[in-house]
Amino acid sequence: MLCPYPKWMKQIELGSSGVKVSSLGIGTWAWGDNLYWGYGKGYGENDLQLAFDETLRAGIDFFDTAEIYGFGKSEKFIGEFLRIAAQRDGASIRDNVHIATKFACLPYRVTKSSLLRALRGSLKRLGVSQVDLYQIHWNFAAMSIETMMDAMAEAVEKKLTRAVGVSNYNVEQVRRAHKRLAQHNIPLASNQIEYNLLQRGAEFNGMVETCRELNVTIIAYSPMRFGVLTGKYSPTNPLPGARGRQFSVAYLAQIEPFIAELKKVAQKYDKSIPQVAINWVMQRGAIPIPGAKNLKQAQENAGALGWNLAREDVEFLNEMSTRVHAAR
Ligand SMILES: NC(=O)c1ccc[n+]([C@@H]2O[C@H](COP(=O)([O-])OP(=O)(O)OC[C@H]3O[C@@H](n4cnc5c(N)ncnc54)[C@H](OP(=O)(O)O)[C@@H]3O)[C@@H](O)[C@H]2O)c1
Repeated sequence: MLCPYPKWMKQIELGSSGVKVSSLGIGTWAWGDNLYWGYGKGYGENDLQLAFDETLRAGIDFFDTAEIYGFGKSEKFIGEFLRIAAQRDGASIRDNVHIATKFACLPYRVTKSSLLRALRGSLKRLGVSQVDLYQIHWNFAAMSIETMMDAMAEAVEKKLTRAVGVSNYNVEQVRRAHKRLAQHNIPLASNQIEYNLLQRGAEFNGMVETCRELNVTIIAYSPMRFGVLTGKYSPTNPLPGARGRQFSVAYLAQIEPFIAELKKVAQKYDKSIPQVAINWVMQRGAIPIPGAKNLKQAQENAGALGWNLAREDVEFLNEMSTRVHAAR
């Protein structure tokens, strides 16, 4: 049976929702997305299936997707790979996998029923009757936060999702979502935000404290800063495609000294740069969901588990990353 839960695997409850997931997840934005990630060029369906199986094999049970990833392809891949795994390893595999997906706040979606309709579409593509976590993908919505949370409460009542989360919400929006859900006796389980060694805004804008106060789990997306924190990109080897426009050669030159320090820390532990970047996020109390496009990346990212950066190294990396920010 897949997903044997290695004995060091820590399970983390999403807020007080009762949903417990592995302390490391996997992000699947790149699964089927050719606009940003270049699906079909350098990686394809077979690579993704190998990454899926490897993730379960390593005991990682938390998959993050969204209806807009690859315009539904990411959800379809997860559904298909899960179906194949269940046929191969037994139907109970479904109980060991936790799926989080997201509602896209498109401008024409203005009613509660549009959220429930979107969720049913995701369930169909995923081939499941319920997801573990349904999240509002971003904060610009034609619906108020209160209306969306009322719709989320209905989704929980109808057993379409076990828990409710948000994403890219600021402190005030988290408080509003939390307050409205509380009126339905439902906890806000999580806020999914970019959080990594080079994006630590949550530590300085009150998000970390607020989430701690309200018992909302932070799910950290892009823990390798979209690939920047892997050590393989540099001013002479910039990121490809859309990512190259997002992270300029000047930016890569500026963070080069930091990447060099990160590499030294990785060498000290006999780990890779991605493993250290992901481990750092876990040490900060968030659940990282690194993206992986193939078996090798899934394997390497799973190697962020089972060991811990020492406190002095976390502090050293904090100090180094603060210096990069100060220089910007
Ligand atoms: N809620 C939101 O608004 C939001 C936004 C962004 C992401 N997310 C979620 O967070 C997940 C992760 O974020 P992300 O995919 O943007 O960024 P990431 O995890 O920081 O980086 C992922 C990319 O880094 C490269 N990579 C991964 N593992 C590697 C390894 N071991 N060695 C070398 N390169 C490696 C791969 O791209 P290359 O090989 O092409 O470099 C991979 O696609 C997404 O899949 C998605 O589920 C959510």
